[in-house]
This record gives sequence, structure tokens and C-alpha cells, in this order.
Amino acid sequence: MSTGSEPDLFAAAQQVQANAHVPYSHFAVGAALRTPSGRIFAGCNVENAAYPQGWCAEASAIAAMVSAGEREIVALVTVCDGDQLSTCCGGCRQKIREFATPELRVHAAGPEGIRRSYTMDELLPDSFGPEQLQR
Ligand code: THU
Repeated sequence: MSTGSEPDLFAAAQQVQANAHVPYSHFAVGAALRTPSGRIFAGCNVENAAYPQGWCAEASAIAAMVSAGEREIVALVTVCDGDQLSTCCGGCRQKIREFATPELRVHAAGPEGIRRSYTMDELLPDSFGPEQLQR
């Protein structure tokens, strides 16, 4: 485990968490990421009456980043409510992996702040990534 403090990312994640569309799970998640340019992109989870069509907060934040023309993540914070530690789901770990820089740290936060911090390799060891497809 690696530790770190990201007050700007935490604030951005908490702000967007308030906009989560979660009428089914009632589990609001906010995610905020920083790119090498210093820009911050944030997103929340968006659920759907056809349940599998919903998507995670991390996916929203990544979509905002890519839509703005950026392709690298140096830090990412997720914020959830509740007493338990909640980390990125498996699918989101792979989505983050696609854009991970070597220095990437992923932080799992609760309402009071960051609870635990990880490297990409801790979240997704021996992962498959774009390098595997390079010829
Ligand atoms: N969720 C996220 O937004 N990110 C995760 O990494 C875990 C799960 C959302 C999906 C769904 O809207 C709700 O949390 C409950 O699973």
C-alpha cells in the first residue's frame, strides 16, 4: 500500500458525487482524476432503469478526460459513503489501467477523506494493457 493526500481531487470527487444518479442502488460515487497537464476531470455513477446499462463514476471521469483530448492519469480519487472501505470495481481497474502513468496512485476515500491508497499494480497485478498490443 502507498499513501498520499490529494485535497483538490478529493474535493472534486466529493462535489461530483452529489450529482450521482443512483435511484436503484442509492450508492453515490464520485471520481476525480488528474492528468500530467494538471487538469482535473470528474464524474459520477449514472444508473439506469435497465440496470446493466448504468456505469461507474470512474468511467464518467475517464470519458470526460478522453473527450477533452487527454490520455494519461497521474492520480485518481474515488469517494463513497459508508463506513467500509470501497475500492474501484474490477472493470474500472482495467479502464484506469488503459491510461495509467507509472506514477499513478489510486485513492479510495470516504466522506472524511482518503482511507487507502494504491499503485496500479496493487489494484491489478500482472495486468493486460496497451503494451501487449504493440508490434
Ligand atoms: N460503482 C462505481 O461508480 N464505481 C465503482 O468502482 C464501484 C461501483 C457504482 C456502480 C453502481 O452505480 C453503484 O456503485 C453500486 O454498485
